[in-house]
Amino acid sequence: MALKILARRFVVLGHDFPWSASLVTSAVFPGPFSTQQSLHVRPLCFFQNHTVQVVNIKRREDALSVYPDSVTNPPERPLSTTTDQSSPTDKTTSDNMTEAIAGDVQDFQDGQMKEIEVGDQKVLLVKEDGQFYAIGNKCTHYGAPLSKGAYCKGVVRCPWHGACFNVKTGDIEDFPGLDSVHKFEVEVRDGKVVVKGNPPALENAKRVKPMVKRVADNKKTVVLVGGGPASLVCAETLRQEGYTGRIVLVSKEPYLPYDRIKLSKALNIKPEEIALRSQQFYDDNGIELLLAKEVTKVLPDDKTIELNDGESLKYDTLLVATGGQPRSLPIPGSDLKNVYSLRTPNDANAIAENAQGKNVVIMGSSFIGLEVANYLVGKAATVTVIGQSAVPLAHVFGPLIGQWFRKLHEGKGVKFHFETSVKEFRGEDGQLTEAVLADGTVLPADVCIMGVGVVPATNFLKDSGLDITARGFVTVNKNMRTNLPDIYAAGDIVEFPLFTADDQHVNIQHWQMAHQHGKIAGLSIAGKAQDIRSVPYFWTVQFGKSIRYTGYGPGYDEVILHGDVDDNKFVAFYTKKEKVVAVASLGWDPIVSQAAELMSKGGIITKDEIRSDPENWVSRLSQL
Ligand SMILES: Cc1cc2nc3c(=O)[nH]c(=O)nc-3n(C[C@H](O)[C@H](O)[C@H](O)COP(=O)(O)OP(=O)(O)OC[C@H]3O[C@@H](n4cnc5c(N)ncnc54)[C@H](O)[C@@H]3O)c2cc1C
Ligand code: FES
Repeated sequence: MALKILARRFVVLGHDFPWSASLVTSAVFPGPFSTQQSLHVRPLCFFQNHTVQVVNIKRREDALSVYPDSVTNPPERPLSTTTDQSSPTDKTTSDNMTEAIAGDVQDFQDGQMKEIEVGDQKVLLVKEDGQFYAIGNKCTHYGAPLSKGAYCKGVVRCPWHGACFNVKTGDIEDFPGLDSVHKFEVEVRDGKVVVKGNPPALENAKRVKPMVKRVADNKKTVVLVGGGPASLVCAETLRQEGYTGRIVLVSKEPYLPYDRIKLSKALNIKPEEIALRSQQFYDDNGIELLLAKEVTKVLPDDKTIELNDGESLKYDTLLVATGGQPRSLPIPGSDLKNVYSLRTPNDANAIAENAQGKNVVIMGSSFIGLEVANYLVGKAATVTVIGQSAVPLAHVFGPLIGQWFRKLHEGKGVKFHFETSVKEFRGEDGQLTEAVLADGTVLPADVCIMGVGVVPATNFLKDSGLDITARGFVTVNKNMRTNLPDIYAAGDIVEFPLFTADDQHVNIQHWQMAHQHGKIAGLSIAGKAQDIRSVPYFWTVQFGKSIRYTGYGPGYDEVILHGDVDDNKFVAFYTKKEKVVAVASLGWDPIVSQAAELMSKGGIITKDEIRSDPENWVSRLSQL
């Protein structure tokens, strides 16, 4: 039954695969999962950039790990796509547009968002300064309903991971996700608000922004080093902003740029299943990919980069976005087989394969360590996490939420050793067999994952003359410019001035921020420089629970928590002196997106106001 429904949805939903996943899961178990239910759906097919892909989701935990929000917030729309699901007010007009009456004009307030059905698709209707605007309601990242997000001054921010869409144009303005949504016509007829859309736009949630073609006569070359989101968004921004010269993206990985964050949430996922764009997309838009090539040197005086195969490449403008590389520790035995770090699909797939039924030790109780523990528990014989701190993730979320992580994991069978580290790996015939902790405890270990942080992949820039900090980060200004002419840098490798932290130069390693850096760099290179003004936003997924976080919290002096951690519903405010600098939540959407939206518009939340009421400040969003 589920697959029959899914097959019908393909026609409607195109390549928005996480949403398809949610439809499958809700077809089998309508409504949110209880913790006792298990999911057996395989294979799950979806369209991705117009290619049919196959994902094996064998267990409920797998589905929750990859698509937690789409599972725990199933689509409200019935699964059937037959016309009897349409609103009674729908009709198809003579110009082949589908239209729906949204209500009486006087019923709408300025700043109000309303989800309406046009045909059998959901559209977001907004009134702003007396005008009505309508855009697609499904976020182009993982499909969240935008009507449940945060609205402020013409921008709606997604409730799940903070992507922003302009309600007048449908354009994506902050990330994650690459694509915009469609914009629909709205007219006032006989005192009623009427929304009109053409069926293809209604049915396809994603709109790729128009891009110019490569023009052979334009001899300029922009080289982008790195195959992550910072480079990809920069390439797309250049084409969107009218740059017609050559674009070459060089990556040492052999894969098309992919959704890296899935690697710690679904370790068996294949790179082709999570490609962000198809090869066709790059061909169509004149973006050359030089894959499996490592840049070994940048020679700014010659405007040249050198590659590991001895080749070199000239550039007019260079973007360096080489991301992080896993920190390795000089622990005896760390060269034994089955001691892994996790950054690439190869790492993830090898861990997934070799950990089945084995004793797994994870070094590091931070995001990657815990997400990997989440994935492996139930598949491996034992999963033991070694943390140097007393409480996992307390440095980010505070001790109370840190204990919540611990209890959640222990409840699922993960074992912890805190305030210690691995001092030695032992093995037989080159194969890992034991991990010895600092206090002498010996743990059986067939597989170990070192989740002990990352360092910027900037060694190859050592002699380039670029301004690099002692920790290896490249310093850039608000336009992602480095100290050298025509060289930009973006993503995990940079320290940039963060406007919500008084323009302090900071390093932010979030998927969202890397996209935004790419956009800002692209705008600068295209001659349309804009200062970066994005509020950091990230999320982590643990056993189907998605914790969201916005702001810049390092060095916070107090955590003010509302709600009930044990009830999986809370919001935490991180303060510095009198000001809230970051907000985290679980089960309290869209408060983190509202906070991000307020901060992005320069608003301030004070410690005093959130002591007694966590939401009083939200009303300021409509007054800005
Ligand atoms: C397993 C995992 C899970 C994550 N989960 C989350 C999450 O849930 N939420 C979140 O916000 N963030 C998450 N992150 C962080 C997020 O992935 C990064 O912030 C983001 O990918 C940074 O993008 P980037 O473009 O700067 O670099 P990257 O995505 O790291 O890409 C850098 C690219 O450059 C290539 N490269 C490196 N050196 C060279 C060279 N010399 N020559 C050529 N190519 C080179 C690399 O191979 C890579 O393709 C996760 C990271 C990992 C590893
Ligand atoms: S689903 Fe909207 S930002 Fe992820």
